[in-house]
This record gives sequence, structure tokens and C-alpha cells, in this order.
Amino acid sequence: HDPVLFDIHGRAVRYVRISLTDRCNFRCIYCSSCDKIQKTIPHDDILRYEELLELSSLLVNRGVEKIRLTGGEPFVRKGIMNFLERLHKAHPELLISLTSNGSLLKPYLQGLKDLGIKSLNISLDSLNPQRFEQITGSDSLSKVREAIDSALDIGLNIKINAVALRRFNKDELKDFLELAMNNPLEVRFIEYMPMGGHEPWLDSNFWAAEDILAEAKNYVTLKAQDKKDPRSGPAKSFEIVGGKGRFGLITPLSNHFCFQCNRLRITADGRLRTCLFSEKEYKVRELLRHSKLGIKFVDKLFTQAIKHKPIGFDLLEAKKAAKTTGRKMNAIGG
Ligand code: GTP
Ligand code: 5AD
Ligand code: SF4
Repeated sequence: HDPVLFDIHGRAVRYVRISLTDRCNFRCIYCSSCDKIQKTIPHDDILRYEELLELSSLLVNRGVEKIRLTGGEPFVRKGIMNFLERLHKAHPELLISLTSNGSLLKPYLQGLKDLGIKSLNISLDSLNPQRFEQITGSDSLSKVREAIDSALDIGLNIKINAVALRRFNKDELKDFLELAMNNPLEVRFIEYMPMGGHEPWLDSNFWAAEDILAEAKNYVTLKAQDKKDPRSGPAKSFEIVGGKGRFGLITPLSNHFCFQCNRLRITADGRLRTCLFSEKEYKVRELLRHSKLGIKFVDKLFTQAIKHKPIGFDLLEAKKAAKTTGRKMNAIGG
């Protein structure tokens, strides 16, 4: 078979998102880690680091150029630095990145940089401490801000992910733009997706990207940037004229980017998902762990699964039908 993972629509997979754990020290209202009674994946069902290394080698052999590690919060998992070191040693050419809530990050930054990690995506939905706590259930805004400042000092590329929540952070757009004016980082607003957080998904909380963009233009001059890197995710980026940083929008509801999807996902319990929203999951863990034929079978599974990668998913339609994915965001890895 072709070593590269092409689907039947001609899309090549170069980017895999791996959730290291479904656990998180935050309880964001739009996520699921927030349910009052915590139901986490049993320890034994989480992919072990050895298994993740084996899987990563397979992926690299199949043409994957970038692995993003997500959670839950990846830094709540013990041994992560050792794992990253081994992953980097095994595949020095692989682009490794992480998405984190930033609260535990600071002590690891230099180590990450030393491993050759160049960029981090950090979630930050509000710059106001009370509001930050309302959204995340955590009072660690100052820790997150400190981590961002240190990361910039060290020379890491930072993207800030702010979920656009009309009822929470609409009046903070100006402050976020100022942050990107004054610092060499990218602030991206992500349209709020109905993914089963502990707060019901409210239309009144949805803030569409075109409205965000129109409002942003009241404060700054934005110049759309072409996407050059085939490994990058779905964000649309803008240069802020006269500023140090950039602005970005991720539009899962208002504007489909499925046609150019280059991604697969591995859940913390070792399920392959070919689309964030498709319920179809492939059991990678059992094959990796129990099959005598092991990795060869996993390879076959990927070849089969990629053929059935959905052409896309219309979240707006799904929302109307009140039908969204059963699996929660923290277990899929965003
Ligand atoms: P980079 O381009 O490398 O910065 O990565 P990224 O933007 O893909 O990663 P990140 O983890 O920061 O994700 C930002 C937001 O984009 C999250 O809310 C993701 O859920 C969302 N996202 C990423 N890929 C997809 C996708 O295929 N479909 C949808 N609907 N959302 C996505
Ligand atoms: N809608 C939009 N973005 C979300 N994220 C988590 N849940 C949702 C949701 N329901 C974001 C997090 C993190 C990224 C991986 O996904 O804020 O930045
Ligand atoms: Fe944790 Fe991320 Fe979910 Fe927030 S969105 S609770 S930081 S996994």
C-alpha cells in the first residue's frame, strides 16, 4: 500500500493529535472534565508510553510529520518529559507540539525547549481573574500568564486559544488584541462547539467568527495571511499591522474546513478517530497490547480506517438536530 495515509477524497494525513490523558486540573464549562462526578478512564485502559512510542513510529513510517499531544491536561500525566525525550530521540525530524491549559507548564518550559519543541498552544479564555475562574473552575490565571511570559522569554512560539463565549469574553476582545499587539504570540478565537460540557450549550453564548472579525477591525488593522504549512491546523491567521503578534480564528461552526482536513486523533484510551465528530472509533489499544501480530495489524487498521474518514461534518446541522458526539472533548483531546 501507499506509505502515506491518503483518504478516498485525496486528503493526506500529516498531523495526528494524541490525547495523553482525559484527566484535567481545570473544569472548563464547555468541556466535560467538569462533570461534578468525575468519571475518568481507568488507568489500565490508558495507552502506556511504550505503546505510544510504538504507535508514533508507525505513524512516522506512514508519512505523519507532526504529532500534537493534548489532554485533558497533558502535564497532569506523570513521566511526560521522559516520554517526550524518547519520542524526540526516536524521531528527531518529527514536529512535536502540545496543547495545554498552561497552569502546570512553567517548570517544564526550558526542558521542552531543550528537546527541540518549538511551539505550544495554551488555552486562555479570559484575562480577568474572576471570569477566568468562572469559566475554568481554577484560580490559576496568574500561573498561566507567568508561563506565557516565560515561554516567550525562552523563545518558544505561543498560540493562545480563547473559546469565544459571548456571555463571558465578548468585552475582552480588545484586551486580547492588545496582548497580541504587544507580544510576539498569536491569539486565536475558537467558535464554541457543542461538545457536552457541564453547562448546557446555549445559542446565546455562541459568538460567530465573522462577528468577532468585524469587531476586531474596530481596534486593529488585520491582514489575512496565506497558509503555507501543510502540517498546520484549521486556524485562519491575520497579521496585526504595526503589532508584534498575530490574530487568528477557528471556525468549526460557521465555516467548514473539513475539505482540507489533514488530521487523525488517538484518544487517551487508544481509540483511533478519523474525525472529531464521527462516533466511529477503531480499537488500536487491544491490537497494540494483545495481538501477537501486533503492530502489523495496527498498520492494516490505519490503512482501512483512513479509507472511511468522513468527508466532513456539519456542526450547525447537528446542533439543530441536537445531535452531537457522545464522547467528550477531554477524552478525545480537542
Ligand atoms: P496548530 O495549527 O498546530 O496550532 O494546531 P491546532 O490549531 O490544530 O491545535 P489546537 O490544539 O490548539 O486546537 C485549537 C482548536 O481547534 C481546538 O478547539 C480544536 O478542537 C480545534 N480543532 C483542531 N482540529 C479540528 C478539526 O479537525 N475539527 C474541528 N471542528 N476543530 C478542530
Ligand atoms: N468548543 C470550542 N473549543 C473547545 N475546546 C475545548 N472544548 C471546546 C468547545 N466545546 C478547546 C480548548 C483547548 C482546545 C484544545 O480545545 O479550549 O484550547
Ligand atoms: Fe481541561 Fe482543556 Fe477541558 Fe479546560 S478544555 S477542562 S483545560 S481539558
